[in-house]
Amino acid sequence: MSTTTLDKPTTVTLPRPVERIVAGQATSDGAGVKLTRVLTHDLQRRLDPFLMLDAFGSDKADDYIAGFPDHPHRGFETISYMIAGRMRHRDSAGHEGLLENGGVQWMTAGRGVIHSEIPEQEEGRMEGFQLWLNLPARDKMRTPWYRDFSAAELPRLTTAEGVAVTVIAGDSHGVAGAVTRDGTEPLYLDVHMPAGTRFVQPLPASHNAFVYVYRGAATIGGQPVPVQRMAILKNDAAADGVVIEATHEDTRLLLIAGRPLREPIAQHGPFVMNTHEEIFQAVRDFQAGRFGEGAH
Ligand code: CO
Repeated sequence: MSTTTLDKPTTVTLPRPVERIVAGQATSDGAGVKLTRVLTHDLQRRLDPFLMLDAFGSDKADDYIAGFPDHPHRGFETISYMIAGRMRHRDSAGHEGLLENGGVQWMTAGRGVIHSEIPEQEEGRMEGFQLWLNLPARDKMRTPWYRDFSAAELPRLTTAEGVAVTVIAGDSHGVAGAVTRDGTEPLYLDVHMPAGTRFVQPLPASHNAFVYVYRGAATIGGQPVPVQRMAILKNDAAADGVVIEATHEDTRLLLIAGRPLREPIAQHGPFVMNTHEEIFQAVRDFQAGRFGEGAH
């Protein structure tokens, strides 16, 4: 665990404006978990290398109690971030872990895992996010990998203005995140902003980036971003980052960015490959019980 307090401000000269505000779609997944799909299938190209972002949050057990029983994944990474609640994870590679308040589970499905995510609570609040990050073609059939990070293990920083940032992936203000990745260079920040503060984050111009506000309200380049909305940030060749303001209320948001892979995306449910033939192969391998092999 490390918490860094910053005294020197990081600067951004030409901040990115908002290109578009997205509301997401109410849906359910797993055995009937209610959630909002914020990053939907039609945005996979625009937000390459990210394939999906789900937000779930409910005080009603019926909305989450069934969880996500055994299901497969191949060809990408799943990053689960739990704001409140407890979920038990088990997978075919023999990994097991409890994901709870403030914890992150990073799973690289690679050539294939079968896993389950089941709530370990029968009442109370369950809130969090699942992000899908694509793998470059060369890594899609790599050995599965998995790690749990408790809240205490995640790197944190506090800016001079009092903005508290959890660095799940990438680098913010010189603080390295829990996970780094060469191919996609993901940045994944949870940013807690007291009312009246600003947060500045440099971003490479070529990286696709978005913000999801889950408490309060933010302003980016004069554009209000209400709660439970995603702001897609414009890619401007000359822009060097983003400046986010929490003008009126305490605000919490995710800031996510990554280097686009610009490779073909072939998806069938939980399999994300580059070609249809690789998808057929994934279905055949799964049906033949070849997921989880070699991962022990
Ligand atoms: Co899953």
